[in-house]
Amino acid sequence: MSAKMQHDWKHWRLRREDTGLAWLDLDKADASTNVLSSEVMGEFARVLDALDAAPPKALVIASAKPAGFIAGADIEEFSRLDSVLAARMLVERGWLLFNRLAAVPYPTLALIRGHCMGGGLELALACRYRIVVDEPGTKLALPEVMLGIVPGWGGMLRLPALIGPAAALDLMLTGKSVDSKKAKRIGLADDCVPARVMESAARIVALGAKPFRQLPAKERATRWAMNGPLRKMVADKARVQAARKVSRANYPAPFAIVDIWEKYGGNALDVPASDPSALDAIFTSPTARNLVRVFHLQERLKAFGKDGDFAPRHVHVVGAGVMGGDIAAVCALRGMTVTLQDQSVERIAPAIARAAKLFERRHKGDARQVRFSLDRLIPDPKGEGAARADVIIEAIFENLEVKRGLFAELEARAKPDAVLATNTSSLRLEDIATGLKDPSRLVGIHFFNPVPMLPLVEVVQGEATGAEVLRRATGFVRRIDKLPLPVKSAPGFLVNAVLGPYMLEALRCVEEGVAPETVDAALVAFGMPMGPVELVDTVGLDIAVAAGKALAGEGAEPPARLLKLVGEGKLGRKSGEGYYRWVDGKAVKGDGEAAAKDGLIAGSRGRLAGKRLPAASPQIPPGLAERVIAPLLAATRHCVEQGVVADADLADAGVIFGTGFAPHTGGPLHYCERFGKARIGEVFRLSDGA
Ligand code: NAI
Repeated sequence: MSAKMQHDWKHWRLRREDTGLAWLDLDKADASTNVLSSEVMGEFARVLDALDAAPPKALVIASAKPAGFIAGADIEEFSRLDSVLAARMLVERGWLLFNRLAAVPYPTLALIRGHCMGGGLELALACRYRIVVDEPGTKLALPEVMLGIVPGWGGMLRLPALIGPAAALDLMLTGKSVDSKKAKRIGLADDCVPARVMESAARIVALGAKPFRQLPAKERATRWAMNGPLRKMVADKARVQAARKVSRANYPAPFAIVDIWEKYGGNALDVPASDPSALDAIFTSPTARNLVRVFHLQERLKAFGKDGDFAPRHVHVVGAGVMGGDIAAVCALRGMTVTLQDQSVERIAPAIARAAKLFERRHKGDARQVRFSLDRLIPDPKGEGAARADVIIEAIFENLEVKRGLFAELEARAKPDAVLATNTSSLRLEDIATGLKDPSRLVGIHFFNPVPMLPLVEVVQGEATGAEVLRRATGFVRRIDKLPLPVKSAPGFLVNAVLGPYMLEALRCVEEGVAPETVDAALVAFGMPMGPVELVDTVGLDIAVAAGKALAGEGAEPPARLLKLVGEGKLGRKSGEGYYRWVDGKAVKGDGEAAAKDGLIAGSRGRLAGKRLPAASPQIPPGLAERVIAPLLAATRHCVEQGVVADADLADAGVIFGTGFAPHTGGPLHYCERFGKARIGEVFRLSDGA
């Protein structure tokens, strides 16, 4: 089909076919990813002017980037907004522009391949049709809530109208993405097609110009709730769901989304300034600023693995226990060939069974992909894979002599440029490295438990670790889609060094008679993903005692109740009892089972540090959360002073992504800054006096 190029704009390309169909490709200049910057949006208005002047028979909007459709608004621009007026103007321009797109007289279609996020999805929603390309990279989401803001360019109006309010609020309140197949299933996309036919499919639908999309039956049923009496009920239900995860004080955006949908027809500009959901309040809230900060911190961690071309294909893991088994599974999930070694096949089998469950979940039941992942994970009791691996990770018992011997053996068999890494939590890298002929080959790659869920991995530089080894280890961590944090070899590195004093302070409060439930409720209300006492139970009381000794030195006495519980064999979650009793993997709090059923039990770590608040929160003494947090703040600062991490921002990044530390605060050291030195002095005195 012949096509004429018209109007060579900087970011957009318009081609007109003889059929009358126009193709509009976004190809943001000097960028690998399309984002909707002011310039791109301004040009889009001029494209619409040109199309008004000579209307096409139909318009298809697509991306010319291999990276995806549109990643969203320009976060850099958004971070630079310096006034309420500027924020309002930003929202207003997108809202009006996409309303204009929605009102054009010719049929419009968004052809979506790869990521389609935030403002990108709002643009697609303003089109009459959407076709998604059936590829794993195709993901659609309105993730604004994760930056503490709302989808103000029409998302709150059009998504509920298209897929029904219940499903739309769920997507907008969690920020989670849907893949191509799900987009079709829930009615977000009109069709889901393979890449090779995407253009002809788009042409047929756009020119056919007849609506063929059928809303799924369930959504048809909920759709009339848009205007009917159910509207308030749906909104109230969404509010309750949001409140289970976060508090309005810490995270105003999800509540604002519900309000704006329910009361203002999805138009954020209509909310009066006096309303807590007003744009001004949302955009200028410390939470929005801090969550944008967290986004930038995450980008900084991601950038660590970028330089270099290390592309490991084969990973050999020694030790198929809690950590090694899961590390191996995560590597196989990311497409690497993994050999998993332990002392016998019987010790490897449970890890493979666990991996199978993980693959099922991650591949969402796609049996072929599950099989491929399992095929890549090879039990290797004799350790034959060590000779072929690009990365070798040791995750055996925490025993110095055995680790030393193992590394001597591995060094002899490994390829000369293979990365030799230990996952040790508490042994000195320098001591383990004495087993090697060339100690500069050893690096620490320290994962957190549970490995599939926790994004951070500390990359530990021992005194002798070579720069190239460090670079490769960091590159490997990015390849498995984790966030690498470079740290120096020091007791507890960063994350355990800050968690130890925090958990210890919490246990001291319990020692003084404060109920574990009260301590945990105080910290969950502060924004932590899990209370510290529950965390001690989850980690294991024996491990807590050992870690406490390692961090504080042999002289420091652990709390008496902790020692007593360990003496009685009550080791926390794994033994069924610690500070709490554990039933079906959950801590029983308050009045026991009844309380558990009433929803007093905490869920798993949420992306927004979301955590269910107890249905009936215990009375929390003022200052309790600050007291327990204070030693964590002090330890974080100490790590920066000692050079364990390179700077304060990286320390904040590590503590947020390694412990789930309340993201709405922007990180522990940022939180200190915000409260000012006087307040911190007060907080530290509180903890000193304990
Ligand atoms: P684990 O006790 O669950 O597993 C250790 C495995 O290593 C066992 O299956 C054992 O059979 C195997 N093993 C022991 N010696 C071996 C040898 N010579 N050759 C082959 N296999 C051998 O231990 P876990 O918890 O997985 O810890 C492993 C390492 O990871 C330790 O260094 C620990 O400090 C570190 N780590 C543990 C974390 C945790 O939360 N459990 C967190 C981060 C690091």
